[in-house]
Amino acid sequence: MEAQVPPELLSGRSRGAHVKALFESIAGHYDKVNDLMTAGQHRLWKRDLVRLLGIGPGDRCLDMCTGTGDLALLVKAAAGPSGTVVALDFSPEMLARARNRPGADAITWLEGDALELPFDAASFDHVSVGFGLRNVAAIEGALAEMWRVLRPGGTAASLDMAKPSLPVLKPLIRAYEFAIVPRLAQLVGAPGQPYRYLPSSNLAFPDRKGLERLFTQAGYVDVRAHEKAFGAVAIVTGTKPSEGPV
Ligand SMILES: C[S@@+](CC[C@H](N)C(=O)[O-])C[C@H]1O[C@@H](n2cnc3c(N)ncnc32)[C@H](O)[C@@H]1O
Repeated sequence: MEAQVPPELLSGRSRGAHVKALFESIAGHYDKVNDLMTAGQHRLWKRDLVRLLGIGPGDRCLDMCTGTGDLALLVKAAAGPSGTVVALDFSPEMLARARNRPGADAITWLEGDALELPFDAASFDHVSVGFGLRNVAAIEGALAEMWRVLRPGGTAASLDMAKPSLPVLKPLIRAYEFAIVPRLAQLVGAPGQPYRYLPSSNLAFPDRKGLERLFTQAGYVDVRAHEKAFGAVAIVTGTKPSEGPV
């Protein structure tokens, strides 16, 4: 039965199913709306994330919640021809868009759940996730899976919405997200309703400090948050220690 409560209030399987259905419904509009609502800035933030991961030629990389594949393609460019990039998402519609992009043949696209990654422990040198942790049903579970599949010494990074540190900006950004973004989405033909989920999912998402704490609790070291767009967006990075439990 269709859930009647906002997806951000759901947990576990029902939230996963709801979020999956939501991305299935907006896949064809996703890239256009992203460009519009961030004025193209998301492309620069994604480049920053890839740089912060410290990817080298030949590295093995996983991009989780890959969507239409922006990050996976940038990660592949950094890892070079000898690098391996696996990009995973649970939405077939989002993956279909990713698979059609120039350069997509060099990447392994996989339908799967970020909360149950189908990989052995220590399989990757780097794991990235762009605007994904906010959407998973259990952030701690996703961070634990990222940790498990990283090799010791490997790096992880999440790019996502955050809460601006300057109090004066908070109501402005909230108004932009709640009132303007759904209208921008409709302007390019996307359904407005899913874009009402975005700001509410952000309300339920930890702030920059909270996400740093979750990274640290998951076992990452050198955890840092890098603010973008006056703190409305943040990249959080961490390293799996070289010694200790795998
Ligand atoms: C906001 S989009 C981000 C897409 C892309 N990473 C980007 O930065 O543009 C979130 C993506 O996460 C995927 N997703 C959400 N929960 C997931 C899960 N548990 N497992 C796999 N993918 C998931 C959705 O299908 C969607 O494609």
